[in-house]
Amino acid sequence: MSAEIESILHENRVFKPSKEFSRTARVRSMRAYRDMMKKAEADYPGFWGDLARTHLEWEKPFSRVLNDSNPPFFKWFEDGLINVSVNCLDRHLTTPRKNKAAIVWEGEPGDVRTLTYQELAYEVGRFSNVLKESGVVKGDRVIVYMPMVPELPVALLACARIGATHSVVFGGFSAEALKDRILDAGAKILITADGGWRRGQTVPLKEMADEALKGCPQVSHVVVLKRTGQAVAMQTGRDVWWHDAVQGKSPKCAPVPVEPEHPLFILYTSGSTGKPKGVVHSSGGYLLGATMTMQWVFDIQDHDTFWCTADIGWVTGHSYVVYGPLSNGATSVMYEGAPTTPHAGRLWEIVEKHSVNIFYTAPTAIRALVKLGDEWPQKFDLSSLRILGTVGEPINPEAWMWYYKTIGGERCPIVDTWWQTETGMHMISPLPGATPIKPGSATLAVPGIFADVVDAEGNSLGPDKGGYLVVKRPWPSMIRTVHGDPERYKKTYWGEFGGRYYFAGDGARKDKDGYFWIMGRVDDVINVAGHRLGTMEVESALVSHPAVAEAAVVGCPDDLKGEGIFAFVILKGGEKSGNAALVATLRDHVAKEIGPIAKPDHIKFTDGLPKTRSGKIMRRLLRDIAAGRETKGDISTLEDSKTLESLRHEE
Ligand code: WTA
Repeated sequence: MSAEIESILHENRVFKPSKEFSRTARVRSMRAYRDMMKKAEADYPGFWGDLARTHLEWEKPFSRVLNDSNPPFFKWFEDGLINVSVNCLDRHLTTPRKNKAAIVWEGEPGDVRTLTYQELAYEVGRFSNVLKESGVVKGDRVIVYMPMVPELPVALLACARIGATHSVVFGGFSAEALKDRILDAGAKILITADGGWRRGQTVPLKEMADEALKGCPQVSHVVVLKRTGQAVAMQTGRDVWWHDAVQGKSPKCAPVPVEPEHPLFILYTSGSTGKPKGVVHSSGGYLLGATMTMQWVFDIQDHDTFWCTADIGWVTGHSYVVYGPLSNGATSVMYEGAPTTPHAGRLWEIVEKHSVNIFYTAPTAIRALVKLGDEWPQKFDLSSLRILGTVGEPINPEAWMWYYKTIGGERCPIVDTWWQTETGMHMISPLPGATPIKPGSATLAVPGIFADVVDAEGNSLGPDKGGYLVVKRPWPSMIRTVHGDPERYKKTYWGEFGGRYYFAGDGARKDKDGYFWIMGRVDDVINVAGHRLGTMEVESALVSHPAVAEAAVVGCPDDLKGEGIFAFVILKGGEKSGNAALVATLRDHVAKEIGPIAKPDHIKFTDGLPKTRSGKIMRRLLRDIAAGRETKGDISTLEDSKTLESLRHEE
């Protein structure tokens, strides 16, 4: 962990929820919020246990809420039985929600499909039977590599129905990245599509899947959805078309009740060391977290149309496109393509067309939309909106103000939600009918979450002191383990502060009102356009190119993406400079190894890197160079100060 965390933001504006808004909100006042916190403090298992009994449907009730006898391997609702698809589908079918839109989907070319809860349940039933007949049983891992189409949630819910564990791989990841994840998950079945639409082009998903599968002989079944109609190779005996597979299948498939701790999904995310780790989420606790935050943070009501723009390849799409909305019987909007195709007002057009009430996106998208100009949102009627949300990185107050005024018409509270792949649900966020909001602050922990900012020894810090963001008690939707590597789970998240707290990898400060201001990662993870990338991953991708001897990668400021990727590269043979062609080659190489999101924005060739005497690269110094800053702080451990000098002078 880096020792110095400096806090520089100062923002004094405060916006209170309007009386009209609060009157009908699920949480109506700060007093109501504090009462919930008091209850959680006084009786922690009672707090979560009551919610689990009230808001979820159990196949068998649990008798014990939290088993904390073997930390950090916590167990929630251990002796109950639950099925997640029953909670997202069946329980709505006996209510007026049966014919309510569960998913309103819009394809990039403009095609629209709406699936009611009944229709979704019908498709999930049929696809569950496809999985069963392919030999998938409880506990098997199913890899899903698909575009943003309704069949993606269908596939996930079908896995949940039969107790299989899904692992979605974002369609923007390369064949290489897909292969690593298939192998790590030990999956025998892959669900994909011929392609998907993005910026008027097709993304060749099946072709990339075929490439990945060359290294995965254990995969015996591939189901391929026809989406774009592009030509693909089908391997006889292994590959089947989705439409052929579901043909004649019964829509009835008995749900398999699972233990609440049974893994619902594995989602790979970058860490500061080694390969991406498979974050394992549970069934019962995870679903409770997604369900409750959908109510507290998004104030979801029966008449709402909710739109989270995240791809289901990320945790945000899992919790707030699929599980949170569907568990609550809400209408979830899904969009397949790019925000600016065919025009820069596409998102606002969708808001108008489907009369979206709650809109949730990333600061990087907001910054890009600001640049496109106010005329785009002004062309469309955005008056249906009542809540706006952000996630993925700190939002700068200017972008916040634009979102508030230009999109929200100064009437919509903004919920700036801090959370992570590992937390499963929002952890720090305003509750829109209760919390006064400040631009750039994620405000306070959600009910039942005990977060704090501490120093390196774990002592709670006073107002405006920068420190480490920790969570002091286990919570139902927390990560359970790293797939196949429980030690890594323990070490990564509970290795600091004597194992007492969950450490999130972020720095933060609390202001005098106790509001959290997230200051970004304090580990070797960079946050590019809201997506986590381990610097090590990009380094290994670079070093796997035959021309590269050594590489060091750091984040650098980027107006649009929040952080960009800056790579320092030492070439084999010691040349000090590579040409533009080599820069392009290396960028493409990284795209092939990981995916286009990992392409370095800047590559600087050098013949040395600043290292400590023990041989560790001093990234702090490289970050300063990448940002064009003066180097502050101690450089006494630097082995050879000449390297630093020469790196600077080459600029
Ligand atoms: C960052 C995304 C500031 C943070 C749900 C965290 C944020 C990482 C916010 C997790 C926010 C997420 N304000 N920073 N509102 N939300 N982050 O796993 O650094 O893709 O650790 O989960 O994103 O990214 P992940």
